[in-house]
Amino acid sequence: MDSNHGWPEPIIRVQSLSESGTETIPTRYIKPPSDRPSIEASSYTLSIPVIDLSAMSKEEMASAVSAACREWGFFQVVNHGVRPELVRHGQEIWRGFFHLPIEEKQRYANSPTTYEGYGSRLGVEKGASLDWGDYYFLHVLPSCLKNHEKWPALPPDLRDITDEYSRELLNLCGRVMEAMSIGLGLDPTRLQESFGGTEVGACLRVNYYPKCPQPELTLGLSSHSDPGGMTVLLVDNHVRGLQVRKGSDWVTVEPIRDAFILNVGDQIQSLFPFCQVLSNAIYKSVEHRVMVNAANERLSMAFFYNPKADLPLSPIRELITPDRPALYKPMSFNEYRLYIRQRGPRGKSQVESLKTSQ
Ligand code: OGA
Ligand code: NI
Repeated sequence: MDSNHGWPEPIIRVQSLSESGTETIPTRYIKPPSDRPSIEASSYTLSIPVIDLSAMSKEEMASAVSAACREWGFFQVVNHGVRPELVRHGQEIWRGFFHLPIEEKQRYANSPTTYEGYGSRLGVEKGASLDWGDYYFLHVLPSCLKNHEKWPALPPDLRDITDEYSRELLNLCGRVMEAMSIGLGLDPTRLQESFGGTEVGACLRVNYYPKCPQPELTLGLSSHSDPGGMTVLLVDNHVRGLQVRKGSDWVTVEPIRDAFILNVGDQIQSLFPFCQVLSNAIYKSVEHRVMVNAANERLSMAFFYNPKADLPLSPIRELITPDRPALYKPMSFNEYRLYIRQRGPRGKSQVESLKTSQ
């Protein structure tokens, strides 16, 4: 492999830029004024729904989840059944990884072929604008793609804790898929079946956003919608950063200790034959982005729950009617992901550009 590991130019770790003590960020990281974060302009009166999963019946959970998926595409869950000690341990162990010496992390330097490992950019366009963040990407499911050798060997408990964390999150995703299905008036298992039943995929991206000397000029992660099925995100409880699009506004998410932020991805939205994204008729895959800041680093763990990768996904038959014809052509998640990976984060243009013309 070439010395750039398949990337179009040498990779610079954002963490090393941050630690160099520079007071100005390189131009590659400066966003055009229209894309820069607007902290004061963001709406403080709005917030994504918070759903308390304790003492909720399946029907109550279905109606709360379904309303949130239609209105926001995003919600937080509290009392979700995953032990807080495990949640915190997971975060701390991954923070430990990013604080290891650079040589230790470089052993896992990733390439754009699979993205597995330690990375600092998404997309392979030469000269593209870059985001202020490093990450680690790994496969959890299917088991044939999971490879512990590609996970960090240090800190010592990282692999075991990540395995346990993944098992708990898969369980939570199963419950949420059921609620989403009931909320559409479908059989509880219908959504899961359309994802390939027990053959679903899952991966983890741990994002590390170092301190940034000019946070007003850049983003930790540019605006995008998540390409997969749904995402379970764990964020630092003391550092804000995630913003969710609501109409023409960006709403800053207030972190809640030990909670998860869940959102609908493009693959769930594509199960809907009709696409009035602005109406409340569908579960929406909503754009979001990440702000960085000068005072604190920020760590987040995004667990992506995906359909079986080679299954052509088409809209759910029961939702198709003569006046609601299928809007997307059947495409597998593998095909879609390949398309996205060449382009990097780009708002919602990617789902939109795949609509069949009508
Ligand atoms: C992502 C993502 C948000 C965050 O990894 O897709 O949107 O807060 N992360 O890091
Ligand atoms: Ni995302």
